Amino acid sequence: MRITIVGCGYVGTALARHWRHDPQVRLTVTCTREERRSQLAPLAERVEVLRAGDGPALRLALQDAEVAVFCLAPTGDRLVSADAYGATYRDSFSALAALVDELPNLRQIVYTGSCSVYGDAGGGWVDESTPAAPRDDHGRVLLESEELLGRCRAPGRRVCVLRLGAIYGPGRELGERFRPLAGSTRPGDGRQHSSWIHRDDVVGAIAAAVNGGWDGLVNLVDDEPLPVADLLDRVLAAGALEPVRWHPAAATGTKPADRRVSNRRLHQLGHRLRHPRVQVPLLKRIDQTLFDALASQSREAPRGRCNHNLHQESDLVQRFLNVLQPGTYVRPHRHQREQPGTGFECFLVLQGAVGLLVLDAAGAVISRQRLEAGGALRGVELAEGQVHTLVALEPDTVLFELKQGPYIPSADKDFLSQFPAEGTPAAEAQERCWRALFEEEENADP
Ligand SMILES: NC(=O)c1ccc[n+]([C@@H]2O[C@H](COP(=O)([O-])OP(=O)(O)OC[C@H]3O[C@@H](n4cnc5c(N)ncnc54)[C@H](OP(=O)(O)O)[C@@H]3O)[C@@H](O)[C@H]2O)c1
Repeated sequence: MRITIVGCGYVGTALARHWRHDPQVRLTVTCTREERRSQLAPLAERVEVLRAGDGPALRLALQDAEVAVFCLAPTGDRLVSADAYGATYRDSFSALAALVDELPNLRQIVYTGSCSVYGDAGGGWVDESTPAAPRDDHGRVLLESEELLGRCRAPGRRVCVLRLGAIYGPGRELGERFRPLAGSTRPGDGRQHSSWIHRDDVVGAIAAAVNGGWDGLVNLVDDEPLPVADLLDRVLAAGALEPVRWHPAAATGTKPADRRVSNRRLHQLGHRLRHPRVQVPLLKRIDQTLFDALASQSREAPRGRCNHNLHQESDLVQRFLNVLQPGTYVRPHRHQREQPGTGFECFLVLQGAVGLLVLDAAGAVISRQRLEAGGALRGVELAEGQVHTLVALEPDTVLFELKQGPYIPSADKDFLSQFPAEGTPAAEAQERCWRALFEEEENADP
């Protein structure tokens, strides 16, 4: 089968990769920039550089095609004007409508359109039978484009318009996309629904549309429209980032469009999505942004330190960051557990430096170690029952700690009673004294 993909960007390239190894498919792809030719050349028999509004160039790209897949979109800044939308979609489909009858082999056109043509439904469901009611000029251009494509339908030539939700996937991860919103305040309440579709499901549905000769409108969205606020909450929480705060009183102008887009027809066509729900990234990032946020929290904390748990307290593996400032007092303690071998504690210094003191049961120092990010000694594992304390030797010191859970506060630590309790002047003096041991060492002549 001869197929031409017009517009080989994010989706088009993934689609070309999908078809590359199919011996039945002979592929032509297009882009608008000469510099992309070499990137696309391994994926297709032919690469054409064109704007689809250029009729003769489009005719050349489609001349033998049995199927034309239009995945074109204005390149560059996502917030393009409605005029730029017109120049991409309206001009291209006007050119196609004018020449389609000169393409006798062409039996199907597939276009990746957008759900934005539905406009607002007050939070209600919309499907392919719901009249389109775009709310802005961009949506009107897209609807007009669908109408131009409709004119290309003829006996023996099908036109399938896939109305897509917002696309996410590799290289367009939700975590990265929403990261800049962390901790921001946004107008409104975020209750409006959004529809998403994974890039690989766009590819899968286009391939199914071609294999199955789909015709007409098909919504290409996942199974679960999500309120924007819920989606942001989930994604930001998964990235250990601050949530967005909503400010209903600050909302001005028209309310954002709210609709739940049904994919029932997609299911009726027998198509199954690989990602029926938005996949929230399962990564909890441990990065400088997190260190900086925790450092400022620990500077303000009365104890001069704070924990950031990656685990739940009931988890069997307790893993967390401990961010400390010089002056914080850690009362000497040991971890005793009922099960042998489970009272260990492992530290790694990810930023800054600590002084670790290992003590005997009487409180005498038996080992003194400087642990430093990027230094000679970067971490240790303490054996069960080993009494220890530590002092922060640099501001904003970040430790990664690992020990056996679940965390039971009353059973976690066994303090040496001869050392002062936290928050007392004696504790402050003790911490200064321990820190001085390391500072003296640093200042000592070699
Ligand atoms: N992104 C979304 O969330 C979303 C949502 C709903 C629907 N859609 C639709 O999904 C499709 C795929 O989007 P995408 O993210 O893959 O887009 P993309 O990465 O921006 O790629 C767009 C492709 O279209 C080409 N192009 C630009 N102007 C053109 C023109 N006038 N004539 C011919 N080709 C042109 C570009 O050429 P160059 O390679 O030279 O730049 C590029 O190859 C589009 O039809 C879009 O409207 C996207």
